[in-house]
Amino acid sequence: MSDMGIAGKRALVTGAGSGIGAAVARRFAAAGAEVIVADLEPAAVADELGMCGLQLDVRDETQVAPALRDLDVLVNVAGIGSTTSAPDTPLEVWEDVFAVNARGTFLCCKHAIPGMAARGGGAIVNVASVAALVGLRNRAAYCAAKGAVVALTRALAVDHVGEGIRVNAVCPGTVDSPWVRRLVDDAGESLDALRARQPMGRLGTPDEIADAVLYLAGAEFVTGSVLVIDGGLTAA
Ligand SMILES: NC(=O)c1ccc[n+]([C@@H]2O[C@H](COP(=O)([O-])OP(=O)(O)OC[C@H]3O[C@@H](n4cnc5c(N)ncnc54)[C@H](O)[C@@H]3O)[C@@H](O)[C@H]2O)c1
Repeated sequence: MSDMGIAGKRALVTGAGSGIGAAVARRFAAAGAEVIVADLEPAAVADELGMCGLQLDVRDETQVAPALRDLDVLVNVAGIGSTTSAPDTPLEVWEDVFAVNARGTFLCCKHAIPGMAARGGGAIVNVASVAALVGLRNRAAYCAAKGAVVALTRALAVDHVGEGIRVNAVCPGTVDSPWVRRLVDDAGESLDALRARQPMGRLGTPDEIADAVLYLAGAEFVTGSVLVIDGGLTAA
């Protein structure tokens, strides 16, 4: 599948109701894919795109199993963060962060792969984070959960290469999305500090991540890759 080869493909994007996931859904729809907008709150983006909206909690296998059967492309974007060091992280927060980021990605892959294999192949792109690659201050549970997403990506790539299924991940740096606005407004983090930790001195945009996801969805010789898009954060 080349870049434009996504036209006519059936693609499900989790977390597509906001931010990076919504940008991926828009980019895929513009490239001619049939997009399933999956989220806890999918309606606004699904209506905007004239695509199918699916109310889906990625933590819940009974919801995921029937919804992920017949896909060419799966993009796992649904995620939640954490803002504390380990001693200050309640066990419930650790469990929640793993339930959405790690278990949710696992469940969606688990139930998408057999259908992709039956269709002759497919592509999965998981949205991890630079938090999987470097220690970010006060993000203990989030760093660990995104590390699991990267490790899972590589394991799936090896297991399913023979079925024509490619599995890759992107690791964004800080991207200007509603998530980051909540960090600033609700958790009291400084937008200037978030910008400053990226050598380019700015936040990424959801569209910049969506372009990379579209590339990986169509990059026929690429599997098990972890593409960092971070304005230089991990290079510093
Ligand atoms: N924004 C950043 O700086 C940044 C950086 C690196 C990685 N990421 C990752 O990108 C992804 C998207 O982040 P964003 O910035 O667009 O955040 P966002 O909060 O704007 O969007 C996240 C979406 O996930 C959905 N979601 C949450 N829990 C869900 C569940 N259980 N089932 C289904 N959907 C659920 C939310 O409803 C929301 O629409 C996340 O995985 C995040 O970890 C974000």
